[in-house]
Amino acid sequence: MSLKPDLNTTNAQGKLPNGAHDAVNVVLDTAYQGIDQKAWAKLFTQARKSHLPEFIADMLAGKHINLSEDRPALHSALRNLSRSPVMLNGQDVMPAVSNVWHRIEALCNKWVGVTDVIHIGIGGSDFGPRLAVEALAYVPEIECRGMRMHFLANIDSAELARILDRALPHSTRVIIVSKSFTTLETTMNAKAVVAWLKASGLTNSQMNKALFAVTANVPAAKDFGIEEDHIFPFWDWVGGRYSVWSAVGLPIALQYGFKTFQEFLAGAHAMDLHFKNAPLEDNLPVIMALALLYQQDKRGIKAYAAVPYADALDWFPKWLQQLDMESNGKSVDRNGKPVKFSSPVVFGSAGSNAQHSYFQLLHQGTEIIPIDFIAIRKPMSNRPEAAAHHRILLSNCLAQAQALAHGKSADNPNHVYPGNRPSSLLLLPELNAFYLGALLALYENRAASLGALWNINSFDQPGVEYGKVLAKPIEKALVSGSDQIRTDDDIDAITANRINFLNSNS
Ligand code: F6P
Repeated sequence: MSLKPDLNTTNAQGKLPNGAHDAVNVVLDTAYQGIDQKAWAKLFTQARKSHLPEFIADMLAGKHINLSEDRPALHSALRNLSRSPVMLNGQDVMPAVSNVWHRIEALCNKWVGVTDVIHIGIGGSDFGPRLAVEALAYVPEIECRGMRMHFLANIDSAELARILDRALPHSTRVIIVSKSFTTLETTMNAKAVVAWLKASGLTNSQMNKALFAVTANVPAAKDFGIEEDHIFPFWDWVGGRYSVWSAVGLPIALQYGFKTFQEFLAGAHAMDLHFKNAPLEDNLPVIMALALLYQQDKRGIKAYAAVPYADALDWFPKWLQQLDMESNGKSVDRNGKPVKFSSPVVFGSAGSNAQHSYFQLLHQGTEIIPIDFIAIRKPMSNRPEAAAHHRILLSNCLAQAQALAHGKSADNPNHVYPGNRPSSLLLLPELNAFYLGALLALYENRAASLGALWNINSFDQPGVEYGKVLAKPIEKALVSGSDQIRTDDDIDAITANRINFLNSNS
């Protein structure tokens, strides 16, 4: 695999279905969206009126598009394998990015005798690396070190207990991943794991060897006791949910090798170049964003589903939920004015399992929920059954889309399928690190395009902070053990009742 993708390749091995588009051999077929030529033309005009092309250029050039935090969203620099300069406040960020690449590579080379890695982080510091590590485990061609990779995110100590029961302390390495290095779940879990290592008899120097951090707050990681040369920095111009391309993706490199990590970056970089250079009419992230906009405007859709027909991508919808809903789940625009539309709810899981869960509602429910079907052309195993199983997987995927689109009439109303339910098909030639990177970057760029079209800042998340603040007085009330907690500015009557119930029964 060349790390320099052939960007002149516009035809994804064979004739594309009518009206389909492709980028770096990823094919997008929107035929079942029910959008005619005239409507597409209007959508592209709308995109131009909303200054989407200017937004794309500004974002990739490092302009301060994150207005509320007055900074750029430059995650694309993290995968800029061409190393062409990316200027930020008059300085090229690429030397710092490349330096981290060198350090990751060096660490991979000296990573011996490790049985367990505990990756501690939550949200954007968890979903991306967890998804990639899980997905690539399904690719038979990728060399794997075979370490146990444990992802510790939840503050629920059950997760901690499960991991610590399995890990071998003397050959465990711990990576604490937090952009802010202040997230309570992460710092508390980190302290618990450190205590476990100490209790397991590790000496101070063994502890130092075992602990690593990835953060944009290097002083806090040092204060925590991590040695400077074990701290991998990233920067405030990388949003947490866009950070898997930084050293946050370290577990990918450690488990599958630095080359595989680079291939992951290369796929994303190729998608960025497509996003930057392709006209709107051929631009996959833009077309996907406009299809959603159309369904929202014309059909009033409130949710959409992402269904990858690949077990390897079972974590993809969870990653996508944070990407879409934390980025674009907003009620006001970039100027603080109310918006008519913002992110619909997104959910999903691997097909064909999903068919045996919520697809009944997708076919016959009262809500119209567009679907992104994601399929992979090549089977992902070398088993003798692979081809036959894969044909069934693909035929299920194609059949669901067709049934949703056309529906079926019947005398018995219970058997009527209303049809006219939109979907897109996204086809990856195969699933490897390169195409995984391309897929994630495609959705990242789609989320950014949607934000621009809705005039929403996709790069802040003020809404998640308030609940965190309120958790503090509530925790204090729980610690008190009192069942006589009264309402005050921080605790209302319902919550006070709940605390009193919990305290009286503990
Ligand atoms: O859930 C809110 C959030 O701020 C996310 O945006 C972020 O990915 C997550 O918390 C973790 O934050 P950090 O990496 O700073 O620990």
